[in-house]
Amino acid sequence: MENKNETTVTVLENGPLLVSGTIKLIGKDGKEEIKEGNTALCRCGLSKNKPFCDGEHRNSDVLKS
Ligand code: FES
Repeated sequence: MENKNETTVTVLENGPLLVSGTIKLIGKDGKEEIKEGNTALCRCGLSKNKPFCDGEHRNSDVLKS
């Protein structure tokens, strides 16, 4: 049974980590940000808007196996 309050992380094929649910994101400067809904986190290292995915992975083979 699905828990509506559950936060899930889905590894998208050749793409980012898709976080669904409410999370508190703490930056390296200690700044906290609440994100709700879907948040795509970069796992290729190429995003210019880390920790978020900006779609740059599409221009690389980094995540393709
Ligand atoms: S996973 Fe999308 S830019 Fe890195």
